[in-house]
Amino acid sequence: MSTQILTTTRPDGPGPDSLPADVQLSVRDLEITLSGSDGAKPLVKGISFDIRRGETVCLVGESGCGKSVTSLAIMGLLQTPPLSVTRGQILLRDGDQVTDLATLAPRGRAYRDLRGRAMSMIFQEPMTSLNPAHKNGKQIVEVIRQHTDLSRRAAWARMLDMLRLVGIPSPEIRADQYPHQLSGGMRQRVMIALALACDPGLLLADEPTTALDVTTQAQILNEIRKLSQQRDTATLFITHDLGVVAQLADRVHVMYHGRIVESGTVREIFKDPRHPYTQGLLASVPSLARDEQADTERLNPIPGSVRDLPANPAACPFQPRCRKALERCASETPPNMTISETQTARCWLEAESR
Ligand SMILES: Nc1ncnc2c1ncn2[C@@H]1O[C@H](COP(=O)(O)OP(=O)(O)OP(=O)(O)O)[C@@H](O)[C@H]1O
Ligand SMILES: [Mg+2]
Repeated sequence: MSTQILTTTRPDGPGPDSLPADVQLSVRDLEITLSGSDGAKPLVKGISFDIRRGETVCLVGESGCGKSVTSLAIMGLLQTPPLSVTRGQILLRDGDQVTDLATLAPRGRAYRDLRGRAMSMIFQEPMTSLNPAHKNGKQIVEVIRQHTDLSRRAAWARMLDMLRLVGIPSPEIRADQYPHQLSGGMRQRVMIALALACDPGLLLADEPTTALDVTTQAQILNEIRKLSQQRDTATLFITHDLGVVAQLADRVHVMYHGRIVESGTVREIFKDPRHPYTQGLLASVPSLARDEQADTERLNPIPGSVRDLPANPAACPFQPRCRKALERCASETPPNMTISETQTARCWLEAESR
């Protein structure tokens, strides 16, 4: 069956016809702007990435680099105003149709129909999604009934299956309880069941395990990975934890100050990081292998803070914190250099090394 484009797309952007058949989500040149009384400030400055079916893509970067606003923009949940999508396309495949979400009204019916069915999101705090006044089972049944024509009885059976699938013991008992009667890990599992109840093609997860202890975190991450592989779900996983990235990701995009500064497969990013920021993030992770070294070398944090920006807006935004900065980094925006078929880095060092 041929792909049908539901909405008009910008004439200046690449057409959605070019969306390959296995790509579930294609974010192209996405810009998100914060508008205030003192003018407009771009928070996300033209990022592009694809997620294929069954693939887990991680967005990593320090606090404030724009990871959450990117996922909220995809879900149509940006706080508007003051935030809005001001450029680019968000192409979502839904069966044989492709929709440019950037052209839909976030609060409109078309978006509401896609949320929960074609795409869903797991948040860090389960109570963002769960209603404290309703029993766990009922909440999942309601989502299933909203998006499918299953009978109440069939939706109930599916809800119990989902609870079982995410590793909740005695699902009949848990379904009949309220969210506050569950532990944090169990609540997170209920939220995952809720997110996966309608078998969405796209799953977004924004730091879903940060608040959990390490054992529960590992179990939940395994669950997400197993379920998305079984169901061929495209997953966007947001984290600042490189351990999580190593455990989950197929592909990684490293964000700095609203831009993707390096992209690659998980292997490329961990084995051969090219951008000094990616190298800095990796060097900031405590390592037993570095145990033999002097205490000061074991942890090697990136100097300064994300708020340290260059005076010249045309400069590389990482320049004030970069140990390897060249003269031109202070005055010229670096281009996106192709390193391999799957790896790119936005850095003058790459250009100079050729
Ligand atoms: N509703 C809002 N109003 C104003 N500014 C906002 C709003 N939401 C986010 N921002 C700003 O947008 C930038 C990106 O925020 P975002 O929440 O996407 O960061 P993040 O990468 O998810 O960080 P963290 O790792 O801390 O979650 C930050 O500078 C933040 O202050
Ligand atoms: Mg965030």
